[in-house]
Amino acid sequence: MTQTIHAAPHDAVAQVDKAEYDARYAASVADPESYWREGGRCIDWSRPYTEVKDTSFDEADFRIRWFADGQTNVSVNCLDRHLETRGDQTAIIWEGDEPGETRKVTYRELHSQVCCFANVLKSKGVKKGDRVTLYLPMVPEAAAAMLACTRIGAIHSIVFGGFSPDSLANRLVDCDSRLVITADEGCRGGKRIPLKANVDKALDHAPGVDTVIVIRRSGADVPMVEGRDFWLHDLLADASPDCPAEPMDAEDPLFILYTSGSTGKPKGVLHTTGGYLVWAHTTFRDVFDYRDGEVFWCTADIGWVTGHSYVVYGPLSNGATTVMFDGVPNYPDHGRFWETIDRLGVNIFYTAPTAIRALMREGDSWVTKSSRKSLRILGSVGEPINPEAWDWYHRVVGDRRCPIVDTWWQTETGGILISPLPYATDLKPGSATKPLPGVQPMIVDAEGKELEGATEGNLCITDSWPGQMRTVWGDHDRFFQTYFTTYPGKYFTGDGVRRDADGYYWITGRVDDVINVSGHRMGTAEVESALVAHPKVAEAAVVGMPHDIKGQGIYAYVTLNAGDEPTDDLRAELRQWVRKEIGPVATPDALQFAPGLPKTRSGKIMRRILRKIAENDTSNLGDTSTLADPSVVDTLVAERIRPA
Ligand code: PRX
Repeated sequence: MTQTIHAAPHDAVAQVDKAEYDARYAASVADPESYWREGGRCIDWSRPYTEVKDTSFDEADFRIRWFADGQTNVSVNCLDRHLETRGDQTAIIWEGDEPGETRKVTYRELHSQVCCFANVLKSKGVKKGDRVTLYLPMVPEAAAAMLACTRIGAIHSIVFGGFSPDSLANRLVDCDSRLVITADEGCRGGKRIPLKANVDKALDHAPGVDTVIVIRRSGADVPMVEGRDFWLHDLLADASPDCPAEPMDAEDPLFILYTSGSTGKPKGVLHTTGGYLVWAHTTFRDVFDYRDGEVFWCTADIGWVTGHSYVVYGPLSNGATTVMFDGVPNYPDHGRFWETIDRLGVNIFYTAPTAIRALMREGDSWVTKSSRKSLRILGSVGEPINPEAWDWYHRVVGDRRCPIVDTWWQTETGGILISPLPYATDLKPGSATKPLPGVQPMIVDAEGKELEGATEGNLCITDSWPGQMRTVWGDHDRFFQTYFTTYPGKYFTGDGVRRDADGYYWITGRVDDVINVSGHRMGTAEVESALVAHPKVAEAAVVGMPHDIKGQGIYAYVTLNAGDEPTDDLRAELRQWVRKEIGPVATPDALQFAPGLPKTRSGKIMRRILRKIAENDTSNLGDTSTLADPSVVDTLVAERIRPA
């Protein structure tokens, strides 16, 4: 039986208790318009909105617009509005790769840096609506760069520093960026990441970029191209700290963030200004029960959506102190998180199950030698958290004192949609619990029929919420096709879910061809196209497999061209190839040479069978009689490889 951990009130009065949650949820569903007319006022608007919700998921009048006649500016909400009340409060605590390599930036200092940075961008010709790509380590200048874009209405596109030059080039070209902001090198886990050198390689395939701004991080001597590359510190030296904020319409684009889907190349998910900020602001405030003066640490990189919403925009718009961590959980040792929590006095800590599982394996003593007495709330994000890891996080890390918020959401949703509220929601280990106010989940079967009560099926959201993505950059039709046609009239999340008798949601994982590796989304199609780009590969099929630490690992089946021999060296070469083509996160954990792939007579690869083989669940492969050549399955089973 599942254990339930009852919500206990905090010694300070809970900001949202059970009754308040129920009342808010009911109000938000009964009359979203009134609920958000009030709810949207949590941010400052230079021109108040009169329109609130203008949305439809139906093909005939498909539209998603929130607060559309209002005007606001994200940097003003994250900076200017705090200057009077908390100008000297720390906005960002930077914790570098080496423990104690720390820097604090106040709201006043950050405001001045952002204004200078915005003027630098303007001096390089960046205008409202232009795309600026960021390829950066986790340094305060990265947050300043994001906010500088928002100040002048430029659209930022952040590419995770672990992506390859090719991946960076594709993203630069797709959104037609003219300017890139990078650093000399990243420093992670004692290693160096050649960010500037990667940009140089990427620009060979992205001719539209004419300016590169380089932040000094490691101090490495990197080649600079005359007239194209500039050091940020040189440019800032001449920049004025006076930069009026551009008034932005609520529906003006704020940022693009590329994410993998089940087909084709990564999609540029577009979020707009007003609705996104309202969502990041309210979810941060309520899910983390943030209280003035507390230190919040989300360990995500700004290259992922979690970093956008819960390292930068959510915390800063609430006037919080946010930690930016430029390191990894196991450097210099497995106690890094807990030692840092004590040293920085972290109150709220938000990380991913993969990190929890990896640290759990190293034993409790790494944790128990720290006090962690500052901790009040723990959070989890990115993938389902297994009950064992949940229990360890709660018992060992949180000393059973700290509620865990298991937050379910996606790049597309802008912020958290399903999560407990601390002190208001009884917790069940492994369940993301209940939808936040304004979120209307529905579980459907394969045909789209609504399933009621305790059930299991596919997770849809039936009505819009302010933080929802608005389009796929440059391809509005793909946006509609991807999310609104599987179950017409509903947003389909791509996730499977179970609902128990108490109405609690348990996310079971992706039901499409997306795999979740250490909380990072990877489209199987993307890894397949990287593999077939190798001259010796004729065909490839990629599926997920269970992995103790990563949640899911990548299992690749590869058919070689006639005449090419399957060898261990070639296997290593192909894994390395994918790493180089996409980035380390995409490296296959297992790669099996397959003389043939199981296909139907019409040529469709039967992934169901490949998944079962990868999972080593070969006793029940289902009906293979419809295959063009059923014997290939026996060969694949016999030659299944044990992942490293
Ligand atoms: O499958 C779900 C999983 O991560 C996917 C979204 O990935 P991404 O857009 O990269 O955003 C990750 C950070 C929000 C979802 O479709 N996922 C995310 N959070 C959870 C989760 N699965 C289970 N429980 C979660 N808390």
